[in-house]
Amino acid sequence: MSKQFDVVVIGAGPGGYIAAIRAAQLGMSVACIDAWETADGKPAPGGTCTNVGCIPSKALLQSSEHFEQVNHHFEEHGIEVKGLSLKLDKMLARKNVVVKQNNEGVLYLFKKNKITFFHGKGEFAGQVDGGWNIKVTGKTEDDLVGKHIIVATGSAARELPGLPFDETQVLSNDGALRIGGVPKTLGVIGAGVIGLEMGSVWRRLGADVTILEAMPEFLAACDTQVAKEAMKAFTKQGLKIETGVKIGEVKATAKSVTLPYQDASGADKTLVVDKLIVSIGRVPFTGGLNAAAVGLKLDERGFVAVDEDCKTNLSNVWAIGDVVRGPMLAHKAEEEGVAVAERIAGQHGHVNFATVPWVIYTAPEIAWVGKNEQQLKAEGREYRAGSFPFVANGRARALGDTTGFVKVLADAKTDEVLGVHIVGPMASELISEAVTIMEFRGAAEDIARICHAHPTLSEAMKEAALAVDKRALNF
Ligand code: FAD
Ligand code: NAI
Repeated sequence: MSKQFDVVVIGAGPGGYIAAIRAAQLGMSVACIDAWETADGKPAPGGTCTNVGCIPSKALLQSSEHFEQVNHHFEEHGIEVKGLSLKLDKMLARKNVVVKQNNEGVLYLFKKNKITFFHGKGEFAGQVDGGWNIKVTGKTEDDLVGKHIIVATGSAARELPGLPFDETQVLSNDGALRIGGVPKTLGVIGAGVIGLEMGSVWRRLGADVTILEAMPEFLAACDTQVAKEAMKAFTKQGLKIETGVKIGEVKATAKSVTLPYQDASGADKTLVVDKLIVSIGRVPFTGGLNAAAVGLKLDERGFVAVDEDCKTNLSNVWAIGDVVRGPMLAHKAEEEGVAVAERIAGQHGHVNFATVPWVIYTAPEIAWVGKNEQQLKAEGREYRAGSFPFVANGRARALGDTTGFVKVLADAKTDEVLGVHIVGPMASELISEAVTIMEFRGAAEDIARICHAHPTLSEAMKEAALAVDKRALNF
């Protein structure tokens, strides 16, 4: 006898578990299935984000930044530390504890919201009276029927053709988060978000890190001025970044990895490193769903094909998060999860893609929302720009962290904020003011007239907004 639910969610990453919670809040009976497990076979809900993504990477970024601060910056504050040493195993163990707390947090939330959790793989078994039959396989087997199905199966790291991940020498994000000893030399293919974050972690801990990027431009998705400032800062820290390269046939042995490549000028070079991280993007994960058997349509790149409401081609089957088009970000997955649960309940859930913020958690941090200057120029849109450097911000000086700036871009006629770009301390937190203003379709003048506490980094946002009208007060 099948177990009946109003909603069955496949995948308990940030998209799936949040969709399950919102559906339960709206009074529906909800099941959530997730296959992830710990090394000892226990359920580990939370998806890529919790297990091998956002959370463990931020734990290691924090720990390694502490190490960097003690090593290189405490002295400026008059603090001398002798006999400093790194206990990498303890650092990694702490990261694992943070992950576990988050896994347990999700399980707690399932219980609190009366969501039935199934630990195993969920696959479509066919359409039945009253919905879709989903089979759960794993340690236990179950047979579920959901009136609505939400596919939230996420993504997986993309391999370089002919170079499979072995997670010892050739590392995906998974292996990159658990290297047992700091490698003397570390190569990274792809100067994207993972390459920069994980490259920073291991550089801070002592590795000599070289990042090879195919695109001629560094951080092409960022505002050019931000990318330039970030490149300057990363280079000064010792990260070696080469853009415009063409990688040849990579060879990995038990001891090293050899990467022949052509640099931007066309010269042949070879990089030999102890370990290699390959971070060249991610691919949607639909393996194991039995999608083809029920005719669930995928697009040409393997994403589950959805419309703007996250509806698939099958009735009452929805898909959200990394497995569908759009940015592969945890908060985007969450917003889609909430919106779909609300649509199932007959409400009008909505996700505003124009105000999804991006953050890179390096030092300096990089964050942006909306359009950058290149995009506005390409659109022929008239705009005014106002920038404010952290070097002129009292709090940043007190922190000893004055790299970077805030830039506000506003429509030349209406003053509506079109984009905000930050490189500098706590950019990840500062950006939410910009998101809020843009959600309300506010103007630069609105930010400029809001009272910001002194001394805070957020004053740089106010000053950049004032600078749009050429009336910054402290610069
Ligand atoms: P996922 O989190 O991938 O979850 C999918 C879940 O579905 C998994 O648990 C999987 O096991 C399960 N599953 C798959 N198929 C089945 C099946 N058939 N049956 C049962 N279960 C199944 N994003 C940010 O916003 N901020 C960050 O700081 C950030 N840092 C990142 C760092 C790294 C190293 C990586 C790799 C990613 C990072 N991301 C970050 C991206 C973020 O992790 C993803 O965008 C997010 O996890 C997507 O959520 P999701 O719910 O769509 O999928
Ligand atoms: P990415 O898309 O950010 O960067 C991949 C980089 O690799 C690009 O610059 C691309 O030009 C380059 N590249 C591709 N093929 C290459 C090749 N053959 N040789 C050299 N360079 C090549 O992807 P990444 O870093 O793997 O991360 C995947 C996704 O995970 C991100 O796009 C993001 O959505 C998410 N993520 C988000 C984080 C955050 O929000 N802070 C942190 C980490 C990941």
